[in-house]
Amino acid sequence: MAEPLVMRVRAALNSVINPTSGRSIIADGAVQGLAVKDSVVRFALEAKPGAERESQALLEAAKEAVLQVDGVTRVSCVATAHSAGSAQKPAAATPPPAGGHANPFGIKKKPAIETAAEAMSGVKNLVAVASGKGGVGKSTVAVNLAVALAKAGLKTGLMDADIYGPSLPTLLGISGKAEIRDSKIIPREAFGVKAMSIGWLVDESQALAWRGPMVMGAIRQLMSDVDWGTLDILLIDTPPGTGDAHLSLIQSKRLSGAVIVSTPQEMALADVRRGAALFRKTETPVIGVIENMAWLEGPAGGKHFLFGEGGAEKAAHELDAPFLGAVPLYPDLREASDEGRPLAATDHPAAEVFETLAKKIAAAIQP
Ligand SMILES: Nc1ncnc2c1ncn2[C@@H]1O[C@H](COP(=O)(O)OP(=O)(O)OP(=O)(O)O)[C@@H](O)[C@H]1O
Ligand SMILES: [Mg+2]
Repeated sequence: MAEPLVMRVRAALNSVINPTSGRSIIADGAVQGLAVKDSVVRFALEAKPGAERESQALLEAAKEAVLQVDGVTRVSCVATAHSAGSAQKPAAATPPPAGGHANPFGIKKKPAIETAAEAMSGVKNLVAVASGKGGVGKSTVAVNLAVALAKAGLKTGLMDADIYGPSLPTLLGISGKAEIRDSKIIPREAFGVKAMSIGWLVDESQALAWRGPMVMGAIRQLMSDVDWGTLDILLIDTPPGTGDAHLSLIQSKRLSGAVIVSTPQEMALADVRRGAALFRKTETPVIGVIENMAWLEGPAGGKHFLFGEGGAEKAAHELDAPFLGAVPLYPDLREASDEGRPLAATDHPAAEVFETLAKKIAAAIQP
């Protein structure tokens, strides 16, 4: 009887040698969570601290090796950072790039992220939802805007570029792993929106341990390996601040624009400025600023400005960027979000607020 596929996959991985240790990645215990289902192989490759780049090359080599195994049609693999203490010496030298990516002559190649983005040829507009600061409601706003855009008749997608803390599985109320068909990851569908998050590709504990180079790799995968099909707009929920995920998106040269979310505090001004500056510097248009948690409506009507009034609007004017509007603080928005029920899909007053904002964004990208 032929050897089981998983054994042959293991043997293939065992042939991949880490030049730093001189041992195979199996012998090093670097391959984790190896799973073979039908013809699809999944695993994680653990990177030692300080050797993340080397791990990316090893990951490519491991992927190549597994793809050579008869009966394997697809490999879904990620590099994760070393989880526990046991510090290792950083690798002495960069190993030879594996998997045919050698570039010994220093010839300038198109950045991989640009090539990955080209796979999304059916996606007309990519729009990043960003903020300078964390916890201002980017993910909540992104999900509800996506639902509102879909309701307005646009073919809408939603990509979760927050690799460390993916929100979409919770906000859309979808758990489990994504399906892979014909070597492509199939987006999940909810409320008329096609969505993909790293949370549906790897375990949460792994995602948390990712490091810079892997963030770029993950974003590349979310662009090129997902079957986005034809979309009018792909909203991208980004992590707080301006880090690797933002740089990857900018380097992809595919962003039509960015929407900045802010809270009303005067303090937020500085964050909006910082968030907008990154996009401006790279000539990505700032479609506009949304003020979130703008006020709390009293039981008898009337607005309570808990965090001050009009900070984001002022910031928008100062930046010469359009002010798109404000989203009040709705106590039930948080509850509904936690239950995976975007209020934009209901008859809650918030739905109208998001519809108005969505129309402005639609008008900006489809003048
Ligand atoms: N308008 C709102 N009214 C009430 N609660 C809100 C509102 N917007 C966001 N929230 C709540 O605030 C919290 C933070 O929101 P969210 O996770 O969307 O922020 P974020 O900017 O994406 O955070 P991070 O920077 O961590 O990614 C959540 O509990 C969310 O439900
Ligand atoms: Mg978020």
